[in-house]
Amino acid sequence: MKLKNRHLLGLEGVSKEDIGLILDTGQSFKEVLERPIKKVPPLQGKTIVNLFFESSTRTRISFELAERRLSADVVSFATAGSSVSKGETLKDTARNIEAMKIDMVVIRHSSPGAAHFLSRVVEANVINAGDGAHEHPTQALLDMMTLKAKYGSLEGVRVCIVGDILHSRVARSNIYGLITMGAKVSVCGPATLIPRGIEKLGVQVSHSLEDVIPHVDVLNVLRIQVERQQSGFFPSLREYHRYFGVTKEKVSKAAKPITIMHPGPINRDVELSADLADSEHSVILEQVTNGVAVRMAVLYLLGAA
Ligand code: CP
Repeated sequence: MKLKNRHLLGLEGVSKEDIGLILDTGQSFKEVLERPIKKVPPLQGKTIVNLFFESSTRTRISFELAERRLSADVVSFATAGSSVSKGETLKDTARNIEAMKIDMVVIRHSSPGAAHFLSRVVEANVINAGDGAHEHPTQALLDMMTLKAKYGSLEGVRVCIVGDILHSRVARSNIYGLITMGAKVSVCGPATLIPRGIEKLGVQVSHSLEDVIPHVDVLNVLRIQVERQQSGFFPSLREYHRYFGVTKEKVSKAAKPITIMHPGPINRDVELSADLADSEHSVILEQVTNGVAVRMAVLYLLGAA
């Protein structure tokens, strides 16, 4: 079993069969993670470098755990204290690391396209762990794995992504992946934070959370990037919370319980109320657990050949 591409740079253009294979393989690895001994040997002898040029808690720890669970040798790199701070280019950094005979690279970078660029200059398999506002494919895969476990299939599941769609790599990867898998996807947020023409990707657009709530199974709530307020995308956090904050009171208007997702980190009581984030309808920590399993699946399918 192999994926069509030797890199995972995004979910745009990835087939239903490949996404299905990753999700099914992730499910098998989830079972491994429930055993007393969680380590398996498929990547024994492989060396993986995690290049994190941007801050991360979940993705970085999750990739490291996934790599170690698959018995790979792992080196993690952060920009602080490296030669990047002396002005070294991404290409030089990557080629020097590759000269040390590595097999795979996981990269997070603030520039959209950084993972694509890297895949053209190194021989190793490249996995995108988030590139600017472009894509975050493993986040969308773990989100889909969580929904598949809950609903049995993604076909016809009604998912609304709420918040800052304009700057969100999580939104973009979820839209590509969910639509490919047959889900019905909508986005909701202030007009300033919804990209023009996004309907062309096959999503419905709303600017009213109250209108959306009766028609969805899932709300995937995005972190509001507080620095955006200074740029005038919305007037104040208070006003944002009033209109687009997802709260228990607002979701109580739905005929049946809505599943609450969030990629993290959460601004509690801004985009999502703390009580709802911690409620029985929230699958936020399940998303994190599935993140390790689905990343094991991606690493295994790309690297074990
Ligand atoms: N969801 C996510 O990418 O979180 P981190 O930025 O902590 O990795």
